[in-house]
Amino acid sequence: MSPLSSVLIGFVVILVVYKVVQWKRYKLPPGPRPLPVVGNLLDIAPVRFRCFSEWSQKYGPIMSVWFGSTLNVIVCNTELAKEVLKENDQLLADRPRSRSSEKFSRNGQDLIWADYGPHYVKVRKVCTLELFTPKRLESLRPVREDEVAAMVESIFKDCGSQEGVGKTVMVKKYPSAVAFNNITRIAFGKRFVNGEGKMDPQGIEFKEIVGTGLKLGASLTMAEHIPYLRWMFPLEEGAFAKHGARRDNLTKAIMEEHTLARQKSGAKQHFVDALLTLQEKYDLSMDTIIGLLWDMITAGMDTPAITVEWPMAELVRNPRVHQKAHEELDRVIGKDRVINETDFAHLPYLQCITKEALRLHPPTPLMLPHKAIENVKIGGYDIPKGSNVHVNVWAIARDPAVWKDPVAFRPERFIEEDVDIKGHDYRLLPFGAGRRVCPGAQLGLNLVQSMLGHLLHHFIWAPPEGMKSEGIDLTESPGLVTFMAKPVEAFAIPRLPAPLYKREPVNW
Ligand code: HEM
Repeated sequence: MSPLSSVLIGFVVILVVYKVVQWKRYKLPPGPRPLPVVGNLLDIAPVRFRCFSEWSQKYGPIMSVWFGSTLNVIVCNTELAKEVLKENDQLLADRPRSRSSEKFSRNGQDLIWADYGPHYVKVRKVCTLELFTPKRLESLRPVREDEVAAMVESIFKDCGSQEGVGKTVMVKKYPSAVAFNNITRIAFGKRFVNGEGKMDPQGIEFKEIVGTGLKLGASLTMAEHIPYLRWMFPLEEGAFAKHGARRDNLTKAIMEEHTLARQKSGAKQHFVDALLTLQEKYDLSMDTIIGLLWDMITAGMDTPAITVEWPMAELVRNPRVHQKAHEELDRVIGKDRVINETDFAHLPYLQCITKEALRLHPPTPLMLPHKAIENVKIGGYDIPKGSNVHVNVWAIARDPAVWKDPVAFRPERFIEEDVDIKGHDYRLLPFGAGRRVCPGAQLGLNLVQSMLGHLLHHFIWAPPEGMKSEGIDLTESPGLVTFMAKPVEAFAIPRLPAPLYKREPVNW
């Protein structure tokens, strides 16, 4: 062995011993034995929240899982969730940033990836006091209602005929289109898709930017967790720079259009207008405005669509719930008009279906990761500064210790007991809780409820021919957000008079 190799090996051994001695000072939560270098990465199954839930049966409700050399603590019960998101909320309010999220967020100058501190507090204030106020959400209602009307019209066309003897439709396609158009309209004031479903050049550019962003983010995942191996997987600096420039150019072009329109006819309610108007008041940099707009796109596009796809699958599987929903809609709305958002208050069963969907199928089952700003104690264990903390809200919402008959899709449970869904009841946390709770929760709920209400009021949903209701596969796809692994297909059979399926486009 050459002297250089001996020195190198000696150095690595000293480093490993030093690290082990350092970690031994802490009483860490139990967990699967990590391997050198990779930690537990090779053992984690692709659908992570299920894997962590299974592991928690063996190691307990708080676990250490090593992603390479980074400690990740996973909590899987109500009490521990409360310790993380309430009692130690501020100390655990940072975000871990991968190299790609570091680039996308320009070192956390946005909201989602910002660490907790004065910048975060300021931007969060912009969200609470300006972007997501009840007044603005109400003024954005015509956009949501227009998109939901477009969805109904398009299913009516696609399902073949009034008798519904045509083809099955892939359910996910429709809420995804609503969520896409809704978020681009409220964030950018743009409907990139025309009435015939054709996308304009800006929309094509927008979709490509989103696609490239996803690819760039995904290309680094394994290397991210093992810092001293990163040299083997260098960041594609050029590709990130090009992506950032394309995103900036498109956003700035849209901003210019808005500035001109504002000069002519005053400010509108879109986020882009609001942020440009408030730029001085809140001292917002251009990177922060662009970052915030794209945060809304990232966080607000898939989540409502997922929240609609799952209950639709559950309803096709569950004729009893399906029929009960129809009965309520017919009693409250009737068959001569369409449902609107002011009807929600009179549709308690529909609200329960939304809650039950978010309980059994939260779109972000591990929420977004939090990071310890200081050393913290959770459940009697040490969580050293810099560790990541994940709350397995999927496992908590199926915990037999707090839910009766936990895996059954039974919306009635929320009539029997009214459970808060927006971060005050730690049994049910689809939007998280505490300082970093989802700021778009009410907007998301309005959109989801409206989509579900229309899908159910306008159509009867039946499984494809030859398939029994129970045959619908409820496995999840891997990823940060959880679509169905096998998107549900169903017959959509119209049940209202034909004129109620027509959209009257709203130019807003
Ligand atoms: C049903 C729909 C939605 C669900 C289930 C959902 C869920 C969540 C969850 C679990 C978090 C992480 C909370 C945490 O880290 O503690 C989050 C964060 C966030 N969500 Fe949502 N979300 C939804 C819709 C939306 C919409 C429509 C928007 C915006 C238009 C939005 C914007 C955000 C933002 C900006 C954050 C980051 C907050 C922060 O870091 O302070 N979300 N969401």
